[in-house]
Amino acid sequence: MNKSTVINPQEINAGNRVLIFDTTLRDGEQSPGATMNLEEKLQVARALARLHVDVIEAGFPIASPGDHDAVKAVAEEVDGPIVCGLARSLEKDIKSAASAVKNAKHGRIHVFLATSAIHRQFKLKKAKEEIVKQAVEAVKMALSYCKDIEFSPEDASRTEPEFLCEVVEAVIAAGATTVNIPDTVGYAVPEQYGGLMHTLKTKVPNIEQAVISVHCHNDLGLAVANSLAAVKLGARQIECTINGIGERAGNAALEEIVMAMRTRADYFGFTNGIDTPKLFGTSRLVSNTTGIHVQRNKAIVGENAFAHESGIHQDGVLKERTTYEIMHPADVGVDQSKLVMGKHSGRNAFGSRLKELGYELDDKRLMEAFEKFKVLCDKKKTIYDADLVALVEDQLVAAAPVWELDLLQVASGNRAVPTATVILRKGTGEQAQTFRDAAIGDGPIDALTNAIDRITGMTGKLLDYQVQSVTEGREAQGEVNVKVDFNGQLVHGRGFSTDIVEASAKAYLNAVCRAILTQAKPEEGAIARPGHIAPAPRAGVATP
Ligand code: KIV
Ligand code: ZN
Repeated sequence: MNKSTVINPQEINAGNRVLIFDTTLRDGEQSPGATMNLEEKLQVARALARLHVDVIEAGFPIASPGDHDAVKAVAEEVDGPIVCGLARSLEKDIKSAASAVKNAKHGRIHVFLATSAIHRQFKLKKAKEEIVKQAVEAVKMALSYCKDIEFSPEDASRTEPEFLCEVVEAVIAAGATTVNIPDTVGYAVPEQYGGLMHTLKTKVPNIEQAVISVHCHNDLGLAVANSLAAVKLGARQIECTINGIGERAGNAALEEIVMAMRTRADYFGFTNGIDTPKLFGTSRLVSNTTGIHVQRNKAIVGENAFAHESGIHQDGVLKERTTYEIMHPADVGVDQSKLVMGKHSGRNAFGSRLKELGYELDDKRLMEAFEKFKVLCDKKKTIYDADLVALVEDQLVAAAPVWELDLLQVASGNRAVPTATVILRKGTGEQAQTFRDAAIGDGPIDALTNAIDRITGMTGKLLDYQVQSVTEGREAQGEVNVKVDFNGQLVHGRGFSTDIVEASAKAYLNAVCRAILTQAKPEEGAIARPGHIAPAPRAGVATP
């Protein structure tokens, strides 16, 4: 049993330090197509620990054995932040979360139950008294496994304030040391949501025995504003995600919250523990891992966040940076001299640069990546951070291959029938087998995905296909991101190569492998995630 807790609500409530609770691996992973495998989740969790978040919500253990194992692995490996597992107010969920976080140095179980009239009437079909009873029992049960319990009245912002106060008081009395007030559907507006914190602070007699947390969704684009308004009026924990990824329009973006608090410390008067120069690298790690890219004009971590186009602005910045810049790019980790390494760089410098970019590789992987780096140096004169990330990502993507690309030959042209011949390898060493097939299509990409489908027996529908250059110049590597629908299972895939047709084949094959690996660990009865509709049953894997 995990007995330790690092939360002292009275102390936190009396101070001006705001706890940063990162839910990229849980709510963030609920973004369609953002599924991460265990190794990817560990990479992200390690980066979050280096960023110094206070809490990592590592997953929803009951959702699937894969989710459970990932939370357990993060709890066992990642030191520093509290590691939290989500559970509905049900015995089986709480037991699963408890077993997943039990080996964490500081574990937390986050229990939730919806409280709004809409959810009570249509989803739970329960009266108010039953909700209070179930919430209290759930908190008590969770407390028998773990000292640090957080409770969320789901859809709190649409719950009658008096009833919300009643639930909050009851769960605190039952032992919850954090009460989270989710704006589950992104309905709140800052003044009103801040006012709700004030109501809780003044109407709930035992409120000082818990930290008030906020968890805002971005359906109206107000998630960050709502979170900050809440902190002004008494909340001391903010739940957020890197790049603001999450269910539907996403969650409050961690980097925006942290930099708003830092840049406008004069107004907010709060601190947090985030090591801000790691924000940019962590953002890129998450976008590369999930395949969800940040828009160019995204605050803090977008490509254009520190780019000045207008001549008047450029002139002003050259004369005095603060004329048009409210933050220093280096404070969020934007490296303006992007050129990093070359042919003569050593393995140690290569490894430490990767670490700065958020990737910690074991010796074997580092050696393999370094070999690939040397090969790339022969193809490309200048190597940028983005090239290094592409190289490691390509390696991680290929780390658990079910199928590997051996040969690709594509013919296309304005008067040719696009045709692709593909040879794929399955298995390694003596077990390795190769399979070949060919197909035609509407274009070269369609032809190659058809050929891959013929070999693997999977039927994928390409929903999204994006190609971009990793860096500038004619010799740049191409990065292809795809989103593929395999009979209702949405999967993303990525591929890199200096040849974009090959990068496309690698990206599609990566999606195929992810789909197969996920299907190999089927969900137990398709658990619906909060605010999310249970996925359609998955199709079996057709073997060639
Ligand atoms: O949005 C929500 O209500 C949630 C809860 C489980 C905290 O994600
Ligand atoms: Zn949420």
